[in-house]
Amino acid sequence: MKLIIDTANIEKIKDYLTYLPVDGVTTNPSILKKEGSIEFVNHMKEIRSLIGKEKSLHIQTIAEDYEGMIKDARKIVDLIDREVYIKIPVSKDGLAAIKTLKAEGFNITATAIYSEIQALLATELEADYLAPYVNRMSNLNTDPYKVISNISRNISATNSDTCILAASFKNVGQVLKAVQAGSTHVTVGTDVIDVFLANANITKAVNDFGNDWEAVHGNFEI
Ligand code: E4P
Repeated sequence: MKLIIDTANIEKIKDYLTYLPVDGVTTNPSILKKEGSIEFVNHMKEIRSLIGKEKSLHIQTIAEDYEGMIKDARKIVDLIDREVYIKIPVSKDGLAAIKTLKAEGFNITATAIYSEIQALLATELEADYLAPYVNRMSNLNTDPYKVISNISRNISATNSDTCILAASFKNVGQVLKAVQAGSTHVTVGTDVIDVFLANANITKAVNDFGNDWEAVHGNFEI
């Protein structure tokens, strides 16, 4: 499981980089809203300098129409860097933008995927990543794991290089099921990441080991 972090919070990113196998960072306008009135370009550059070029940085376009998306994408790579994955929602305009941008050599993450057909179309256009929205699909009574498994089968059958980057999680169980269904990458927000290790048994085990050592050896260190 390649873990990408779905936040633009600098302190959280710094913290996760110290102990998690972080593979990249994703943002979208709603995620950025949580950070208040940040200076967009500088903030994205700061995230890039924290994660380095070897990890992927996914930044979403703001515009809803084709021309606007193309303009946003060009500005993002000009102002930040060419390695950025441009996140584009798979709408009619979004698909047109993906087509144009892929032809120009951009890295693309096709996002806002609620259905198999959106994913198949974006795969055919050679999007680098597909972001199926797990929790949002569940809310609509669509089985996200069936969708992911079918997308995964299509990727294998067509020998495509596209990767599945499942997104929109509300709990750890959803993350695990998405991986079991065939998602090689997951992007997970802070609410869910922060419960990965929040298990009282882990704390108890660590304390018990410490106490058992101390009972025999006192403060003696190895
Ligand atoms: C990825 O970056 C997606 O945009 C994000 O995971 C969506 O999550 P949400 O459904 O919690 O808004």
